[in-house]
Amino acid sequence: TRVALAFSGGLDTTVCVPLLAEEYGYDEVLGVTVDVGQPESEFEEAAATADALDLEHVVVDAKSAFADLCLEGVRANATYQGYPLGTALARPVIAEAILEVAEDHGCTGLAHGCTGKGNDQLRFEAIWRDSDMEVIAPVRELGLTREWEQAYAAEKDLPVEGGNEGDWSIDTNLWSRSVEGKELEDPSYVPGEEIYEWTDAPSGETAELEIEFEDGYPVAVDGEAMEPVALIEHLNEVAGAYGVGRTDTMEDRMLGLKVRENYEHPAATTLLAAHEALEALVLTQEERQFKDTIDAKWAEKAYEGLIDAPLVGALDAFVAETQQRVTGTVTIRFEGGQARAVGRDSAYAAYSADHASFDTEAVGKIEQADATGVAKYHGFQRRLANESIAAIDGA
Ligand code: ARG
Ligand code: SIN
Repeated sequence: TRVALAFSGGLDTTVCVPLLAEEYGYDEVLGVTVDVGQPESEFEEAAATADALDLEHVVVDAKSAFADLCLEGVRANATYQGYPLGTALARPVIAEAILEVAEDHGCTGLAHGCTGKGNDQLRFEAIWRDSDMEVIAPVRELGLTREWEQAYAAEKDLPVEGGNEGDWSIDTNLWSRSVEGKELEDPSYVPGEEIYEWTDAPSGETAELEIEFEDGYPVAVDGEAMEPVALIEHLNEVAGAYGVGRTDTMEDRMLGLKVRENYEHPAATTLLAAHEALEALVLTQEERQFKDTIDAKWAEKAYEGLIDAPLVGALDAFVAETQQRVTGTVTIRFEGGQARAVGRDSAYAAYSADHASFDTEAVGKIEQADATGVAKYHGFQRRLANESIAAIDGA
């Protein structure tokens, strides 16, 4: 019997390898690492650890599918409590890829190294439990702690020393880098620069760049057309150098636990700021207000790892309808660790300089005096209601 294990080469997934034989009776374990834009060092570590464990190991490239999903997130301005959902959006992509590999390799089980306290167990299993495979979560089911895992790894002589999870628990992909655990678990602990890898401490320097959108999708930076993966990688580099995209937050997880999270997401912050600025130019006020509620729901489902729910399909249809006019360019300035829109342009602007200008006389369209009638009725009901209240108070 064979089981496919979501494998990163870190502590949790490494101890799962012998445990799947010892505790669950699988005689063959297939380690699967899915590429969603982790740094090269993580693949080297996974390969080296698999080698030392004598583990059959497969790497699947899902970068492009993941980048596409991140850009759907941009169209929906998707953030959850300030975090652009990098880990959350990656999980369904990873889970699908592992399920496919498992089916191709004759596996009957699927395993992950997530804890029973986090979100990832729910996101992986939502996808996996759509299949007939046995789903195994050794860390959760055996109640493992990191201390126990370290002792077990030492006893079994497992290759975990070089582990990227030796210190903090880190999750990195194209869209964000997340750091949690150890001293960061104390919400009052002020982390130093050492927890950051993608962002430099903001300096006094500033820079500007121009992002071009088509139908709400970013397609070019400073006039250069780029595919989604390259565009995101490029913006992580440039915006990261200006300290853009750091989040230090108390996050409400699905199980209700609060967790202190630190994130880096320079490209996401930049693209979200640019996209929102372009929407502000082209969408009507009522579209923007209603889309806020659609966007919030989209982000909630993404956080839950349920991006394939029918509701999200319906939300996507609304988003797509609005994005037909989200075509144009936005100038972003990096300054003081922020990415701020400082200019925007679109052929579909719901804006008329002629009408809005304070400088010029309207060309036969809006006479200022026309607004007098509106001003007379503005707040009319509240005037009557307040008179009633005054009468009651005076009685
Ligand atoms: N709490 C975040 C989420 O649920 C990210 C967790 C990332 N995992 C980690 N081991 N750092 O999306
Ligand atoms: C875990 O608990 O396994 C990682 C963090 C999370 O899933 O939220």
